[in-house]
Amino acid sequence: MENFHYYTPTRVVFGKETELQTGQLVKECGCKKVLVHYGSGSVKKSGLLDRICAALEEAEVDFVTLGGVVPNPRLSLVYEGIRLCREESVDFILAVGGGSVIDSAKAIGYGMANEGDVWDFYAKKRAPQGCLPLGVVLTIAAAGSEMSDSSVITKEEGWVKRGCNSNYVRPRFAVMNPELTMTLPAYQTESGCVDIMMHTMERYLNQADNMELTDGISECLIRTVMKNAKILLENPKDYEARAEVMWAGSLSHNGLTGCGTDGGDWASHQLEHELGGMYDVAHGAGLSAVWGSWARYVMDARPERFARFAVQVMGVEDTRNAMETAEKGVQAMEEFYRSIEMPTSLEELGVHPTEEEVRELARKCSFDGGRTIGCVKKLDQEDIFRIYMNAR
Ligand code: NZQ
Ligand code: ZN
Repeated sequence: MENFHYYTPTRVVFGKETELQTGQLVKECGCKKVLVHYGSGSVKKSGLLDRICAALEEAEVDFVTLGGVVPNPRLSLVYEGIRLCREESVDFILAVGGGSVIDSAKAIGYGMANEGDVWDFYAKKRAPQGCLPLGVVLTIAAAGSEMSDSSVITKEEGWVKRGCNSNYVRPRFAVMNPELTMTLPAYQTESGCVDIMMHTMERYLNQADNMELTDGISECLIRTVMKNAKILLENPKDYEARAEVMWAGSLSHNGLTGCGTDGGDWASHQLEHELGGMYDVAHGAGLSAVWGSWARYVMDARPERFARFAVQVMGVEDTRNAMETAEKGVQAMEEFYRSIEMPTSLEELGVHPTEEEVRELARKCSFDGGRTIGCVKKLDQEDIFRIYMNAR
């Protein structure tokens, strides 16, 4: 077992009508003025934004609002948010939405707590030294940003999507009412389920030793999401299924399923981030489109781990030949993705890059050949190119 730090400072307030407690939760954070940050309209349409504003007013918390965050959140709105927060002397940000809104809030928080250009942190030019405190009212189970140390932003100039990780951005609290996710389109629900599964699969398919407890938690988490993703396809209003998926989303990306491992692979995420930056696809759908191609490219470096995944998670019979069992596991996962109407290739994702464009994706993903991605196999620019080509 590897040494590890497990740090999850986020207070979770989970269940029906919990959003009504938001005013009090913000007040307890001891702030003077709040930025309420939200997306492109779903929270207005559902009435959630009005309810949150009313809860803040009732708690006598002063606030300003800024909407307009889009999926694959843009740097230009982050700059606008920082300007607004400076003008209004904001000292707390409340994100009402999904991963994109939360990540945009985190970036604004970085911009408020640090001098200079906030993009420097995403371009890895320097590390942030702080962030404004944040709270979250979650409306989609997917990215896990409500408890994670991560924020992912897209810079319009050059269309690059980059992440920044630090413990400063872990939210103070996360309000999670599964009922709020019932208005999601099926595609977003299922894309979210893929992302949740992938946050644990990235950690599970690693180069570390087996870990009884962490492996057991991970296997159960992935199976639970698979089961409930299918239920939600049939019945989007199933509260129990919504709740299982929502809680899995937070536990899948708060570090729990990485305890004692080597931190995981994360190549599929890096491959997706370029797709999200260039083609603006839904994150989870981008992940399922490249995962099979990635798995087949690397699994001979860790066949016994992929075979364990096949047996314990996918319910495949152990053939006693690790590579054979591993391949059956990958096939079973692809079948599952198709069964929840998620893509297993770039074509199914609706993206049709030419070979030249695939070269461009690989160039960007490898930082112009300056880095490798993944740990099951360390993948350079040429490997990345081949994986994208195989995923077409
Ligand atoms: O903008 P609105 O109108 O709210 O619509 C959103 C958006 O179109 C809609 N939606 C959200 N809640 C809804 C709803 N529609 C109806 N009813 C509701 N209750 O769903 C769409 C997707 O929202 P978004 O926030 O983009 O989804 P998600 O949570 O999947 O976030 C994706 C972003 O998070 C990043 C991804 O790369 C992507 O940019 N990630 C962030 C991570 C992190 N910070 O830890 C980790 C992840 O691996 C991921 O990279
Ligand atoms: Zn993800």
